[in-house]
Amino acid sequence: MEKKRFYITTPIYYPSDKLHIGHTYCTVATDAMARYKRLCGYDVLFLTGTDEHGQKIEDKAKEAGVTPKEFVDKIVTGERGVLDLWKLMNISNDRFIRTTDDYHVSAIQKIFKKMYENGDIYKGKYVGKYCKPCESFWTESQLVDGKCPDCGREVQDAEEEAYFFRLSKYADKVQRLLEDTDFLEPRSRVNEMVNNFIKPGLEDLCVSRTSFTWGVPVDFDPGHVVYVWVDALFNYTTALGFLNDKYDDYEKFWPADVHFVGKEIVRFHSIIWPAMLMSMGMPLPKKVFGHGWLLLDGGKMSKSKGNVVDPYILAEMFGVDALRFFLLRTFPFGSDGNFSNEALINTINVDLANDLGNLLSRTVSMVGKYFDGTLPANQAEDAEKDAELVELISSLRTRYEEQMEKFAFQNALSEIFKVISRANKYIDENAPWVLAKDMEANGPRLARVMYNLLEVLRVCGILLTPFIPDSAGKVLDQIGACEGCRTWESAGVYGSLSSTATVQRGENLFPRVDMEKALAQLEEAAQAAKKAALPDLELEPQLTEQVDFDTFCKSDFRAVKVKACENVKKSNKLLKFTLDDGTGTDRQILSGIAQYYKPEELVGKTLVAIVNLPPRKMMGQESCGMLISAVHTEKGEEKLNLLMIDDKIPAGAKLC
Ligand code: ME8
Repeated sequence: MEKKRFYITTPIYYPSDKLHIGHTYCTVATDAMARYKRLCGYDVLFLTGTDEHGQKIEDKAKEAGVTPKEFVDKIVTGERGVLDLWKLMNISNDRFIRTTDDYHVSAIQKIFKKMYENGDIYKGKYVGKYCKPCESFWTESQLVDGKCPDCGREVQDAEEEAYFFRLSKYADKVQRLLEDTDFLEPRSRVNEMVNNFIKPGLEDLCVSRTSFTWGVPVDFDPGHVVYVWVDALFNYTTALGFLNDKYDDYEKFWPADVHFVGKEIVRFHSIIWPAMLMSMGMPLPKKVFGHGWLLLDGGKMSKSKGNVVDPYILAEMFGVDALRFFLLRTFPFGSDGNFSNEALINTINVDLANDLGNLLSRTVSMVGKYFDGTLPANQAEDAEKDAELVELISSLRTRYEEQMEKFAFQNALSEIFKVISRANKYIDENAPWVLAKDMEANGPRLARVMYNLLEVLRVCGILLTPFIPDSAGKVLDQIGACEGCRTWESAGVYGSLSSTATVQRGENLFPRVDMEKALAQLEEAAQAAKKAALPDLELEPQLTEQVDFDTFCKSDFRAVKVKACENVKKSNKLLKFTLDDGTGTDRQILSGIAQYYKPEELVGKTLVAIVNLPPRKMMGQESCGMLISAVHTEKGEEKLNLLMIDDKIPAGAKLC
């Protein structure tokens, strides 16, 4: 029988900066869903990719002094780029699309032309507001306090000849789609779309630009490039082979079963996307699910705020599976959640190390200790004591499936961990170590207790596979699960594991994390990352205000020799210099450079001082003049070097 198919997508990411934990969240969620559907027996196509056109990328490339393509290549395919990150995170995407791929570009040209020819795209003049970071056009009425309603940043005036898409024509149809069907979830997002965007009146959408060139050219009107969102949204179909020969999966996989998207791009996916598909006469995706954001200190992560969390650092410190697990266990997928390192470490310690890790290591080591690793066939059930656990195991798959079908990852995991907790309690209630004191009398009962625990681990291991694929596989290896008892079908049947299973004790899968030590390490890593991102060298900008020559000549620069130098008491900044300035009388200068020099290294050096500044008092001591030094910033750290000149120059020589 032909397998049922399932097509799922992530948004395609802007490679304008390195991806952070928020992007990772969305991709890990999509991966868990794709793996779950494969486990259930579906023929899955999981698509992700990168959205590489637009003014923001063109500007950033210019800033970096490279071409836009070179710029995106580095972030997508370069070291620790997008592809590396998905590999590290064990993302099982079947396809990866880059909107700069030739097949996509030419398909977008055909799509644009088709909508132009069917009258849904027409030429007009665009007057409005443009938010550059979001690549979004807004009308005056859509702005919030005169700023971009999505990101709150300043918008620019924009006016140019442009093509428009007749979005207004589809307003009613789209409203009905949103209100009368389950197209958009969670349901709360429907009201937001209808009340904020459709009811105030949908205006036609500007779909071409002439003020920059980094985009898909409109082939019938040179100078125009296709609006980046039109280019981006159709990726979901071109990656299947729509209007191109690169792939041949459009008939099989379109329409998509679900697009997972962040809440700020729900508008594009639930209004503009269905309207354009209607215009093209194409079937609509079955569902768009708008997930929440991972917040940091209550606000959105962004490179410009400097508060992004680097998934590489977390995965390397705690392991990929621990990070994947945390993301889906801690935050309800449809709502926002506050990210914190403490919450991450806590989840690892409580759920993985304590509950799952302990259940596994206790069970496997007891089977080893009491039965040499292999359970005997002779087992004794205790209906009263076993019934509850057995029922929980038998029905877990159904409860889990119910949640997974709603994309409620957190709830699905809760169901699993309820059973794990119950199993840990079952160990205490049955006290295997007491039973083991009299193996002759209690051996069969002890064997049954162990078998039930192995069954818990087996069923939970299978159902955890979409979330923590590597570790779940290792759980199943340790309990000696055969191929046939790792399947979706077997997860719904208590007793699938052979009653004489042989366990294989392995590594401790989830070691406890020392909270304090780990937080300190993370802080250190964050500082190092911040430092690495700083410019190598920063120089004070040169003054533009000019000084006339006579004024300049009034400053008297002299060579001075350091006769003595010492720290000023009670000051950790000041050094006191006794200087020979050629006049025969010692000159005293105080200088705030104690953090850069030890006094003894300066004695005997020839320096430069301005000697005609009025005397100043510092820490109760007089300072007559100022020593000249060079200052700059290196990797965020201020550096200072006293100007030292040739010792052959006599004290008092005038510098001019
Ligand atoms: O929007 N928490 O790309 P993008 C959760 N190119 N999700 C987050 C997040 C956070 N802190 N930060 C970002 C784009 N995301 C377009 C998509 S699709 C045809 C084009 C999510 O790289 C964000 O919500 O800015 C979005 O769904 C995805 O990352 C990509 O964001």
